[in-house]
Amino acid sequence: MQPRPLPSLPEARAEFIRAYPEFEATRPLDELRATDYARLDRGGDVFLDYTAGGVYADSQVRAHADLLRGGVFGNPHSTNRASLAMTELVERARARVLEFFRASPDEYVVCFTQNASGALRLVGEAYPFCPDGRYVLTFDNHNSVNGIREFARAKGARVTYAPVIPPDMRIDEDRLAACLEDAGTSSCNLLAYPAQSNFSGVQHSLDWIERAYDRGWDVLLDAAAFVPTNRLDLGRWHPDFVPISFYKMFGYPTGVGALIARRPALGKLHRPWFAGGTITVASVRGDRYYMQEGAAAFEDGTLDYLSLPAVEIGLRHIDGVGLDLIHTRVRCLTDWLLRALASLRHGNGEPVVHIYGPLDSTDRGGTVALNLYDSRGHFIDHRIVERRANDAGISLRTGCFCNPGGGEVALGLSAEELSSCFVRAPDRLALDEFRRCIDDKSTGAVRVSLGLVTTFADVHRFVEFAAGFADGDARET
Ligand SMILES: Cc1ncc(COP(=O)(O)O)c(C=O)c1O
Repeated sequence: MQPRPLPSLPEARAEFIRAYPEFEATRPLDELRATDYARLDRGGDVFLDYTAGGVYADSQVRAHADLLRGGVFGNPHSTNRASLAMTELVERARARVLEFFRASPDEYVVCFTQNASGALRLVGEAYPFCPDGRYVLTFDNHNSVNGIREFARAKGARVTYAPVIPPDMRIDEDRLAACLEDAGTSSCNLLAYPAQSNFSGVQHSLDWIERAYDRGWDVLLDAAAFVPTNRLDLGRWHPDFVPISFYKMFGYPTGVGALIARRPALGKLHRPWFAGGTITVASVRGDRYYMQEGAAAFEDGTLDYLSLPAVEIGLRHIDGVGLDLIHTRVRCLTDWLLRALASLRHGNGEPVVHIYGPLDSTDRGGTVALNLYDSRGHFIDHRIVERRANDAGISLRTGCFCNPGGGEVALGLSAEELSSCFVRAPDRLALDEFRRCIDDKSTGAVRVSLGLVTTFADVHRFVEFAAGFADGDARET
């Protein structure tokens, strides 16, 4: 039996529009792609790595350059005219972030950081973990959330992982509920989970925020992968700590993120040091220091101040396009992509693609993790897939995407298998050595992720690429 030939791009697009009539409303994004993002189509390459980093519009870069070329801006820590001009722009960016997330300034504070990891570190190093407290986090988390466990352990808190269940990779609700019940009387219990997985694209329920509060927990909601294509309404949901990276939302600038924190939660943090900008008074002879109030206490040294106006420009850009439109578009394209990939078959009827996570767009975003398999059921090494994708002009990502828990669950790597590799390598373990140790199992996956200006042609191109593996041999590819 021959694999079923794929419909051509025009045929597939017509079928797609019939199946997803709401996509028509997102046409303005095709126009935007052809103008403000025209460079994406100049070389014929396809970009499908939005979860790693968004793409910027020409107009964002121009607006930022125009602003910088038109003014004189000094370090906002001074109070001269150039400095005050900059301070005004920094504070405008701060206010715009709150507005974008519908967060009341009476409730929330925006601390600018270098990226989401910087925001997570601020929480990790300053949260008052204590010996009768808990740090509960889901298996499905970015390493910068996993890393907080080391701060928690150092202060004697108990660290517990709540599992996610394959194949959908959703939270094991009973286990998480039991973890939350097990809080004891401590006032230093922290729950951390991602609003959207950067591995499987699963959107974990925001209801956990309130469920945790009701039991006296603080909540860290990692929104880095969620906010580029979904509305996070902080007037409706009230997590204590929300880390984000702006380049994931609108591509430019890199090097700026934020910790959006509830005021009472921020007040609970005890910073382990002070730095320039974070104190009102510090004395050498008197050996005392006094911290600033609010965001200033969490912004070490000089901010990347010239980049901050580009955050306001980026948020204005997203508002101009319409986040709901972006969301609808990514949902339609993801749904089609999942179904098209799942339907690819080898001549013997075996699937070409194994997807890790939900197979339709319900409660999931536009991040799709998968592996390709040959007709005898052998996975095709993700490094081979990446090489062939590069040859085909498709930018995607492979590996475990800094989300080892998601990867281990998806790929079926047991704690015993992992431990046996780790005991043999007490100090250092290179990735290749780890791969050899786990022999016979894939240690990574392929990830395609959709974003603001993904087109139907982009996702169709990836399906054609995946179809090219039908009836290939894993050993020969
Ligand atoms: C869910 C999630 N959290 C945190 C991060 C860390 O972001 P950054 O590398 O910008 O610090 C990422 C990055 O991919 C992510 O996807």
